[in-house]
Amino acid sequence: MSDEEVIYEVADGVATITINRPAKYNALNSSVVTTLRELFKKAEDDKSVRVILMTGAGEKAFAAGADITEFQGKDSNSVRPLAENGQMLCKFIESMSKPVIAAVNGFALGGGCEIAMACDIRYASSNAKFGQPEINLGIIPGFGGTVRLPRLVSLGMAKELVYAGDQIRADEALRIGLVNRVFESVEELRQSAMALAKKLATKPGVALELAKQSLNNAWELPLKKNLEFEVDVFCKTFDTDDMVEGVDAFLGKRDATFKHK
Ligand code: COA
Repeated sequence: MSDEEVIYEVADGVATITINRPAKYNALNSSVVTTLRELFKKAEDDKSVRVILMTGAGEKAFAAGADITEFQGKDSNSVRPLAENGQMLCKFIESMSKPVIAAVNGFALGGGCEIAMACDIRYASSNAKFGQPEINLGIIPGFGGTVRLPRLVSLGMAKELVYAGDQIRADEALRIGLVNRVFESVEELRQSAMALAKKLATKPGVALELAKQSLNNAWELPLKKNLEFEVDVFCKTFDTDDMVEGVDAFLGKRDATFKHK
């Protein structure tokens, strides 16, 4: 395994970004968060990358949260850049044009859970555990947890998770809608997450980007504006080569080959 804190690999249109501090349960120190921001930007700018798969090294953790060793001695002013760095990472993942899949291979706590929530789709292994344990440190989530959690699960569930700071198992995360699917083993998770990433990499890129924007808007805008936006971008897809190809392929009873334009 590489000695880089974050590993970046590209194959078959998929950029895999792996947090690589397994001995520290992939805890998110400032340099990891900054590197993640740089690598997500790199993936966004690389035309050969169509989908991003995010995971953690090893079989214990996706990420066990912000690195608590960086909290000591901080006050309300000196801690702000740390929270802003994490929030900017999550906002970038959420609003970038390409789909991002989180393969949660173990603990996803605090900032780890918050990064997973900023991704478009979450797959987990059965050993994964989720939680916002910040309350146990006398603090609250700062990478967007209090904002994204109630949008994915119910407000009541989010309050219980944030107030009690308990961990929940993957099957409970599935039940409340925090993850899309759960797999028996980390290996099965990695294979299935990669299979989904490769499948999405073959889909028409412009339509995927517009679908992501429109779905994200469901959180951002009032209903009337959302619906106007959807009709605008629906119409836009009719100006793409991929729409001509997709419809022609369907009518010609053949598989479509999309060029992402
Ligand atoms: N920050 C810094 N180091 C962390 C960390 C974090 N968030 N989470 C885990 N680690 C480190 C531990 O300090 C330990 O390092 P060491 O071996 O040098 O002592 C190593 O990762 C393994 O953790 P350990 O606690 O020994 O493993 P465990 O299996 O007993 O417990 C956890 C695993 C994830 C339940 C536990 O480490 C934990 O509660 N971590 C903090 C979670 C948290 O509060 N996150 C939110 C931060 S805002």
